[in-house]
Amino acid sequence: MNLIVRPILPRFGAEVSGIDLTKPLDAETREAVLAAQSRWGVTMWRDTGLTDETHIAFSRQFGHLELAPAPSGKPYRHAHRELFDASNLDASGTISTNELVRLHNRGNQIWHTDASFMPVRTELSLLLCHEAPAAGGETWFADMRAAYEDLPRSTQERIAGLRARHSLWWSRKRGGFPLTDEEVDARGYAVHPLVHVHRRSGRQALYLSGHARDIEGLPRAQGEALLAELTAFATQPQYVFSVSYAPGDLVIWDDLCTMHRGGEFDELHHRRDMRRTSVREGGSAEASADQFTDLYRAAGVDLHKPRR
Ligand SMILES: [Fe+2]
Repeated sequence: MNLIVRPILPRFGAEVSGIDLTKPLDAETREAVLAAQSRWGVTMWRDTGLTDETHIAFSRQFGHLELAPAPSGKPYRHAHRELFDASNLDASGTISTNELVRLHNRGNQIWHTDASFMPVRTELSLLLCHEAPAAGGETWFADMRAAYEDLPRSTQERIAGLRARHSLWWSRKRGGFPLTDEEVDARGYAVHPLVHVHRRSGRQALYLSGHARDIEGLPRAQGEALLAELTAFATQPQYVFSVSYAPGDLVIWDDLCTMHRGGEFDELHHRRDMRRTSVREGGSAEASADQFTDLYRAAGVDLHKPRR
């Protein structure tokens, strides 16, 4: 095993190579991958040769995989529910012209943390490129540990013990999806501390997300302002970088110490086919096996039926 690590920023992000991700990892290699992941937060693996099946098998070595929401009455684009579809394609593989789907996906271009709207969150996201647009469509990452460490002491004290309320529907609304404030509120929130200890590294991290609606116990406007202030701080140039993709490239990020956002691209004319697996926090089986489907069903959202 010969893991080669090339840092992207001095404290955050690395291009890693030297092992074959298409084969099962031995225990030592698995630990080395996790150690690199923990230290750098984001790891980029070029030209992996992964397929849908080996992408899933590789991911499963790190914990319980979430299932993508099952659409009602619509064929799923992939044979495997472990693959979240981060493409602009419809089930037949052509560029989607469904305006609701486009508005729903637009929220992914806001800085966010995957699944922060779930009580049991996602720990690792593993995104594999199958097709990349000619321009744009990159992913931006932000370092939530360095950002926390660099906050003024007075700010660290001001936010200690605060908890944010997160909703998928809030980030969808922000992206342009047609929802009222009342509809967002009625669908409920997951609540998470604004600062937590990143378990694998022992470092403290901000836990922010575009899904974060407000702060528990604060007037809504004050909570929104605090979230905006912290997000602006954490996404300053010294904490962020972007990665661009070619088919076969895999990026892995730790959702408990990073934020990310998708870069814009010409989504009506260029294909972007990215597929993501999501490792559940702590490998926990305490949540429903199908918690993403449950979330959409409970909200009564069907992207493929016109809203009344
Ligand atoms: Fe995301």
